[in-house]
Amino acid sequence: MGPSGPIFIGDKMKYIVAGTNRPESRSLALGSYVQSIYKALGEDVELFSLEDVGVNELSAPAFGNAEGQGSQMRSTIEKINHSEGLIFIVPEYNGSYPGALKYFIDHWDYPASFEHRPIAFIGIGGRFGGLRPVEHLQGVFGYRNAYMFPDRVFISNVWDVMEGSEVKDETIQLLLKAQAEGFQKFVTALKSQNLIPT
Ligand SMILES: Cc1cc2nc3c(=O)[nH]c(=O)nc-3n(C[C@H](O)[C@H](O)[C@H](O)COP(=O)(O)O)c2cc1C
Repeated sequence: MGPSGPIFIGDKMKYIVAGTNRPESRSLALGSYVQSIYKALGEDVELFSLEDVGVNELSAPAFGNAEGQGSQMRSTIEKINHSEGLIFIVPEYNGSYPGALKYFIDHWDYPASFEHRPIAFIGIGGRFGGLRPVEHLQGVFGYRNAYMFPDRVFISNVWDVMEGSEVKDETIQLLLKAQAEGFQKFVTALKSQNLIPT
C-alpha cells in the first residue's frame, strides 16, 4: 500500500516500458507501435513512459522505500509487481541504457518486482541497434532472477527506420510481430504452470 492509500490492482496485464524520459523519444513512439501489435493480437497492453511515471520527482530516500515514493510511482511499481510480463524498449545512450531507466528500476521492490517476472527486450540505437544496452539490462534482470524471453529485436539506425510512431522497415515490422506472438506464448506457458508470482 502506498502513501496515498490502497491501489486498485486489476487483471494481470503486460506493460511496455519506454526506457527513457527524453521528451519526444523514439522509444515512446516505438512503444505505441508495439502496443498496436499486441492490440491486433487481441491483447490490451499498457505503455509506461518514464516521463509520466514520476521518475523526475524521485529522490534518493525513495530507493526501495514505498513510503517515500509519490503516488504515481507507487501505483506504477504495484502494477509491475502484479504484471504477467514487461516489454522493454531500450535505447542506447553512451554505450548502455539510459540512467533514467536504472534510476526507475532502482526504486522497484525487491524481490517482488523482479523475481520470475517475464521480460522481453527491444533495443534501438545507431549501428549496433541497441545490442549493448539490452545486454546490460539483461545483466540486471538475470541477476534479479527474471524470466527473460530469448527472442530480442534490435533496430539499427532507428532514425531511418521510424517515422513518428510508424515503423517503415518491413523486416523490423515482422520481427516485432513475431516477438509479440512468441512472448504471448512464453507467458501463457509460464502461467499454465503457475510460475509467475501473483
Ligand atoms: C544522450 C544520448 C546518447 C546516445 N548515445 C548513443 C550511443 O552510444 N550509441 C548509439 O548507437 N546511439 C546513441 N544515441 C542515439 C540514440 O540511441 C537514438 O537517438 C535513439 O533514438 C534514442 O532513443 P530515444 O529517442 O528514445 O531517446 C544516443 C542518444 C542520446 C540522446
